Amino acid sequence: MRLAKYLAHAGMASRRKAEELITSGQVTVNDTLVEQLAFLVNPHTDCVKVNGKPVNLEPKQYILLYKPAGYLSSVTDPFGRPTVMDLIRDTSDRLYPVGRLDFDTEGLLLLTNDGDFTNKMIHPRHQVTKRYRAVVKGRVQPGELKHLEKGVELDDGWTSPARVWLIQSGKNESTVDIEIREGRKRQVKRMFQAIGHPVLHLVRTGFGSLDLSDLAIGQYRYLTLDEVEQLLSLAGSQADNDNGGDIS
Ligand code: URA
Repeated sequence: MRLAKYLAHAGMASRRKAEELITSGQVTVNDTLVEQLAFLVNPHTDCVKVNGKPVNLEPKQYILLYKPAGYLSSVTDPFGRPTVMDLIRDTSDRLYPVGRLDFDTEGLLLLTNDGDFTNKMIHPRHQVTKRYRAVVKGRVQPGELKHLEKGVELDDGWTSPARVWLIQSGKNESTVDIEIREGRKRQVKRMFQAIGHPVLHLVRTGFGSLDLSDLAIGQYRYLTLDEVEQLLSLAGSQADNDNGGDIS
């Protein structure tokens, strides 16, 4: 197995980051520095270390968490705020979130120790769909949603077409479901801000073929192999349909 693949499988990093670790001279195999990307390791007999620490392959884990508001989507926080890892028990300490939800956003967040899987899920070229339910300020008119569907201009460029459903529209607030394929920082909030309806409450309700059904807020469950394979095939088919894609 190629060294970068080994590191990614061991949950150390995405494939690209693993290659950087190798080329920057941080990886040894059997205590010999290896800087060639094509280097092959035997996972059963070779001892791979990153910065002197052994890296072992461990079983891959995929978790679907119903993230509550008030938790950071990261492994640690220098300011001591709660992170999503505080909600996960009895599992590998190499797990990390697949992408991010804002501190105050709730909903579907995946965690894994599989660097390749993460890369495929978050890379803009693969464009797995993400669905959100947004409660926004003010009465949303159906016509305003057309802008979101076609694309709005944000400070980092136009958004790709989205799908939008008006669930409820009241004088003070409205509820809208939105499905996007990109994953820019605070994207949904910025999209609604751009049409004059700031988001008051945001929940991610779906990710590719997954939804939150049967989970209470703060709970998690392991994905089945079928679910993992379905997500990978969704990511693969999007990449096949695409010839480049924006970096977002
Ligand atoms: N879009 C946002 O604005 N926030 C999130 O947490 C996720 C998507």
